[in-house]
Amino acid sequence: MKVTPEFLNKYNKTGPRYTSYPPATSFSPKFTSADFIPAVAASNREQPESISIYVHIPFCPQLCHFCGCNTTAFESAAKIRRYIDCVLKEIDTVAQHIDKSRKVSQIHWGGGTPNSINFDYLAEITERIKSLFQFTDNPEIAIECSPAYLTMEDIDRLAVIGFNRVSMGIQDFNPEVLKAINRRPPKFPIEQVMDRLRQNNFKGINLDLVYGLPLQTLESFKENVKKAIALSPDRIVTFSYAHVPWVNSNQKKMDETRMAGPEEKLQMLLAGYEIMTNNGYEAIGMDHFAKPTDNLAIAKHSKKLHRNFQGYCTRETTGQVYAFGTSGISQLWSTYAQNLKNLNQYMDAIEATGLAIERGYSLTKEETVIREVINEVMCNGYLNFDDIAQRVKCTADEVKAITAYDSTMLLPFIEDGLVKIIDGNIHVSSDGMFVVRNIAMLFDPNLTNSTSQFSKTV
Ligand SMILES: C[S@@+](CC[C@H](N)C(=O)[O-])C[C@H]1O[C@@H](n2cnc3c(N)ncnc32)[C@H](O)[C@@H]1O
Ligand code: SF4
Repeated sequence: MKVTPEFLNKYNKTGPRYTSYPPATSFSPKFTSADFIPAVAASNREQPESISIYVHIPFCPQLCHFCGCNTTAFESAAKIRRYIDCVLKEIDTVAQHIDKSRKVSQIHWGGGTPNSINFDYLAEITERIKSLFQFTDNPEIAIECSPAYLTMEDIDRLAVIGFNRVSMGIQDFNPEVLKAINRRPPKFPIEQVMDRLRQNNFKGINLDLVYGLPLQTLESFKENVKKAIALSPDRIVTFSYAHVPWVNSNQKKMDETRMAGPEEKLQMLLAGYEIMTNNGYEAIGMDHFAKPTDNLAIAKHSKKLHRNFQGYCTRETTGQVYAFGTSGISQLWSTYAQNLKNLNQYMDAIEATGLAIERGYSLTKEETVIREVINEVMCNGYLNFDDIAQRVKCTADEVKAITAYDSTMLLPFIEDGLVKIIDGNIHVSSDGMFVVRNIAMLFDPNLTNSTSQFSKTV
C-alpha cells in the first residue's frame, strides 16, 4: 500500500463530511412541524418507495466521557415510560400520512443505549410499527447495543422481538482505557456474546472500535483490531475519536495529554486498514470493514452501497428514513427534518401536537441531483452519469451541468493514480477512497471558498 501519513497530509484540508447533502449545518429552524406533514405526504410519491424507520433511545445508565451522541444519564422509570409513550404517539401521527401500500425494509434503533431500557418497551414499539405497516420479505431490524448491559437472555429476547442485526460498541478491549473514558466494561465476555448472537441467527454483526482515546497507543490499537478480528464479526468500524470539548463538555473530564496526536491517529487509521485488509476484511470506505460474505461488501462490489445517518446500508434495503424520538433526523427524498434535541422539549411538543420538529431542509431538484452524485462517489467510488440520470429523471448532460462537472478538475487525482476515467465513467481506486471527500467536493458547486467551518477531510 502506498498510502502513507505524508500522502494523507497532502490531501488533508477542510471540507464537508457529506454524511448528508446538504450537510446538517444547513438545516433551518424556519422548517417546522407544519412543513413536515406535507413533506411526508410528498414522500409517498418519491423514492425509494420502501420505508426505513429510525428510533432514538437517548438513555444510558452511565455516560462515557468520550461520547458525542445525544444521550442522557438514566432518568426515572416514569420518565422513560413517558418517553416511550411519546415515541408511540409520534409514530401514530406520522404513520397517518404514509401510504400503507409502501413496505418497511429497515428499522434501526440507536442512541444512547436502546438495550439498557426495559425490553418490554422495545417489544411495544416494534409491535406498534408492525400493526401500522407492511414489511418486505427480509427486513433488517437492527439495534445498537452496549455490551455493559447485554445478557445472554437479552440476546434471546431481542431475537424473539424480531431483531436480526446487532452493532456493539467495544471502543477498546483494555479495562484501563474504559476506566479512563468512564465506560462500564462488558457484562459477559464478548466471545460468549458473539456465540449467543450467532446461535440466534443474527447477521451483519458489527463491532465499533475507537482510536484516539486516552491511554491508547499505536501498538495497543493494533491489538484491539486483532482482538476484534479474532472474534470474527461480519463488520468492524474504527472510528476516529472526535474531540470537541467545546461541544461535549463531558470530554473535558478526560486527560487530553494522554490522547494520541493527529500524526499518531493517522498511523492508527493506516495500521487498522492494513491489519483488516490483510485478514480477509474488505474496506467499505476507509474506516468501515466487512467480510466478503457480508451484504455491505456484496453491495460494494455491485456498486449498490448507500449511506444514511445510521451508517452504511445497501440500496436494496434503504428506504426513505422516518425518524422517531428526540434528535432523530428524517431523510426523505426532498426533505430533511430533525426532532428537538432537548429531551423535555421533545416530550412536551409531542404531547401537545404529536410532532417535534426543531429544524429541517427542503432540497431543490438540483440539490437532489448533487446529493446522488456525491453519495455515489462517497459510497461506491464510482460514477456513471447515465445511471444517476436515470435515478434522478433527467439527462446525463443535465447531471454534468448541475454538478458543474469538468473532467480536467480530476487531473491531479488521475496523476496521483487515485482516479481513472474509463468510457466516461469515473473510478476511484482503493487508495483514492482515503481522500474520497476531496474527490466528492469537486462535484459540489455550492461549496464556497470558505470551508473553515468543516473538519479535515482525512
Ligand atoms: C450510540 S453509540 C453505541 C451504542 C452503545 N451506546 C455503546 O456505547 O456501545 C454509537 C457509536 O458511536 C461512536 N462514538 C461515540 N462518540 C464518539 C466520538 N466522540 N468520536 C468517535 N466515535 C464516537 C462509538 O464507537 C459508539 O459505539
Ligand atoms: S458510548 Fe454508548 S453507552 Fe457510552 S455514553 Fe455514548 S451512547 Fe451511552
